[in-house]
Amino acid sequence: MIAASFRDCQAWKAEGLPLSTTSNEACKMYDAIITQYVQWRNDPTLGGIEGCIAAVQAADPDFVMGHVINTGLELVGTASSVERNERLASAVRRTVELAKTQEITPRERQHVRAMELFSRGALSKACNVWEEILVEHPTDMLALKFAHDGFFYLGYQTQMRDSVARVLPYYKPHTPLSSYLKGLYSFGLLETHFYEQAEKVAKEGLALAPNDAWCVHSVAHVHEMKAEVDKGLNFMQSTEKDWEGCDMLACHNYWHWALYHIEKGEYEAALKIYDSQVSRRCVSTGAMLDTVDACSLLYRLEMEGVSVKDRYREMLQVVEPHSEDHTLLFNDLHFLMVSLGGGATDCTHRLLDSLRERAREMYSTCCSCMLPSNLRTNTIRSMPGPYWWSGMPYGRTLPLLTA
Ligand SMILES: [Fe+2]
Repeated sequence: MIAASFRDCQAWKAEGLPLSTTSNEACKMYDAIITQYVQWRNDPTLGGIEGCIAAVQAADPDFVMGHVINTGLELVGTASSVERNERLASAVRRTVELAKTQEITPRERQHVRAMELFSRGALSKACNVWEEILVEHPTDMLALKFAHDGFFYLGYQTQMRDSVARVLPYYKPHTPLSSYLKGLYSFGLLETHFYEQAEKVAKEGLALAPNDAWCVHSVAHVHEMKAEVDKGLNFMQSTEKDWEGCDMLACHNYWHWALYHIEKGEYEAALKIYDSQVSRRCVSTGAMLDTVDACSLLYRLEMEGVSVKDRYREMLQVVEPHSEDHTLLFNDLHFLMVSLGGGATDCTHRLLDSLRERAREMYSTCCSCMLPSNLRTNTIRSMPGPYWWSGMPYGRTLPLLTA
């Protein structure tokens, strides 16, 4: 990508999405961050997302939307929370303070509010605010992507699909990043069981942008749901060169590839993908999506009777520092798989004790959880699954978790 091709102050204004900064460089780098977020790819020629965030801050340290996108992306990554990370908590406070002292647009103010709600775990409310932005500004890609990821974490499948469907008519072929809407829409379609339609839309997206890793991911899910294992294997193999460079999603796509092998009983092939891609990427990035994929793949292989004890112990090094984060219960469940699999009793107790404590806080404050209460309860109830699998009688696990 060429830095000069990104939108400057005037170009953003012309699209009805004015940004409150006089720095063209800040506007362009903000655009470059959104582009890489949508494409799931850190572009080394731009310095990756991190390099662009630094460039935005250097160009205009008080640019509110620069702070919003920086903090919002860290929250979306779910590897950190304001409760456990003072730097992140302080970044949220600084963004809110900056917004209070500046003349910014109502849209930017809504973005600040959504980010602040997200930081407090009120993700459902944050999604409502992003959706409100999209009513007035359907081509605000940042609001669309944050809402998409938010609905995904919440398990709000219909909302994820319809959020994209509502804005589709407003995107023209020349609108920046318009082809990537296909992948977003396709994923919503497959999550609501419209498999044929999902595959068709994803393939349309791939015809426009073969490196759209989210479209690839959507097709991978379709083949998984339809039990088309060989088709899935062929598809991943034939497209690998297009998406392997999408460093933020490639690991997850390899995880899907490994699942096909597990379903065929080809455990060595699945282990090869685990070692050469999933584990390697997880250890080098520390990204939470890569981490849960590695945990899950080991657990699935173990359930098939494959010995993965040593690999569990390696993964423990990655998981252990996050055992008290409790950013998403989905993550916690994966950490538990590895702490039990690796025989790390201390880590298991720390994870569950702090989770119980957090659950008490959630129930007492009622709305501060990222998950609705029924899902919250069900996920906590699912915790005994890995416990039982690790050898503890099921009847002894629930009291342990609900004590
Ligand atoms: Fe997936």
